[in-house]
Amino acid sequence: MAPPSRPGPAPGPAPSAPGPVPEFTANPGYGRFEPSRDAELIRRVLDEVEPVSQALTSYFYALLFTRNPGVRTLFPAAMDAQRDRLFKALLTAAGLVDERRTLVEYLSHLSRGHRKYGTRPEHYPAVGECLIDALARYAPRTWGEEAEAAWVRAYTAISQIMIDAAAEDARKAPALWQAEVVSHEMRTSDIAVITVRPDQPYPFLAGQYASVETPWWPKVWRQYSLACAPRSDGLLVFHVKAVPAGWVSRALVHRARPGDVLRLGGPAGSMTVDHSSGNGLLCLGGSTGIAPIKALVEDVAGHGRARPVEVFYGARSDLDLYDLDTLREMERRLSWLSVRPVVEGPSGGIVGRLPDAVRQGGPWHAFDGYLSGPPGMIRSGVDALVGAGIPSDRIRHDSLDGLTALRG
Ligand SMILES: Cc1cc2nc3c(=O)[nH]c(=O)nc-3n(C[C@H](O)[C@H](O)[C@H](O)COP(=O)(O)OP(=O)(O)OC[C@H]3O[C@@H](n4cnc5c(N)ncnc54)[C@H](O)[C@@H]3O)c2cc1C
Ligand code: HEM
Repeated sequence: MAPPSRPGPAPGPAPSAPGPVPEFTANPGYGRFEPSRDAELIRRVLDEVEPVSQALTSYFYALLFTRNPGVRTLFPAAMDAQRDRLFKALLTAAGLVDERRTLVEYLSHLSRGHRKYGTRPEHYPAVGECLIDALARYAPRTWGEEAEAAWVRAYTAISQIMIDAAAEDARKAPALWQAEVVSHEMRTSDIAVITVRPDQPYPFLAGQYASVETPWWPKVWRQYSLACAPRSDGLLVFHVKAVPAGWVSRALVHRARPGDVLRLGGPAGSMTVDHSSGNGLLCLGGSTGIAPIKALVEDVAGHGRARPVEVFYGARSDLDLYDLDTLREMERRLSWLSVRPVVEGPSGGIVGRLPDAVRQGGPWHAFDGYLSGPPGMIRSGVDALVGAGIPSDRIRHDSLDGLTALRG
């Protein structure tokens, strides 16, 4: 509950029936929203709290969990750096009040992802009250009645968008899938190819990823790309690399065995094939980033229309090119596919880094770009593709920062 000394509307709406998100200015349920003035008030507060965001985040969670002990059970046992994301996203969303289309797209995506956490409509007011109280404490200079009213209006709109998007998604899909491991194959000392059977059909597009939770780390979710296009047997394949001290990746690679049951959140991601385009596909896959690229190749093959697909497959050494044989076999079958391994050390293939190898090839202006791999590779790969004449709106990749992905 908000302290009684500060009157004002309770942050957070009542659960509502799903439906289209109304204009802020037109719907009395959201109050009389004045984007520009509200945006200015919100941004002033954001500027003030920016240097103290860590302390603010800790205080927000302390308020949330002491006032609502039941909510603590939705979160994993260890509150590590991941926890910043919820709070940062709240601030990001509030700062987007003037960009309604982006805001709705961003929040709808977030909200669909929240169904797996067990988030319910009644949690939103609880989070809103703690947000407002944390801001009031950490923004003494810019906080006041007017700023509070602007934040309450923004949070009310944010949570309504999220509640509506979750309700709409719930009419189409479950929040979670149970998926039994049916095979587990070590390809290198730290990379496993894992095949799972979901308990009900998993509707995804080639190039997308799933959130995965293991039985060993409850409530700890990580994203893994689907390494195949949808299959007639409904099985899903993941390529997982165990990273040093990695919670989920190490469990999946070194502990999971056939018969173990994972939980999956719904599919997400926008790195999918645009079948309305006749352009070629220039694909860069670094390490296990080759997994969704392989799915894209299967997807193009399944559509039966020959389009040039050029795959650059990057790894540290030849030994780390764990899926090259399968890709070579596909290359033999599919006349439009070309696969070029690129490694950093001595090799039988191209030596160097992926972006440099791509720069040396081409021309690429008749291609769309697809990138998957470590964040640094994606950043330098995008630069290389833009430099090679592919406009940024024809380059697809996924990143954890949904907003960056939306804005391209
Ligand atoms: C859209 C998307 C798709 C992804 N697809 C795949 C995939 O198909 N296959 C796959 O293996 N991974 C994939 N990842 C990465 C995956 O989600 C996890 O981040 C990764 O498995 C590490 O999780 P963890 O719990 O094991 O490590 P954490 O417990 O999160 O991290 C432990 C430590 O390892 C460090 N660390 C994290 N990642 C790496 C890394 N790559 N190399 C070195 N150190 C690291 C962290 O900074 C931390 O210090 C994908 C990520 C995204 C965002
Ligand atoms: C109101 C707007 C909200 C925003 C903008 C928001 C944003 C986020 C973001 C960005 C993440 C990081 C992981 C992901 O992308 O899924 C996250 C995680 C999470 N959120 Fe939210 N969230 C909101 C509301 C809520 C509410 C009301 C709850 C319920 C209590 C909630 C519970 C969680 C949980 C349990 C996680 C997982 C944390 C973890 O893995 O450590 N969120 N949220």
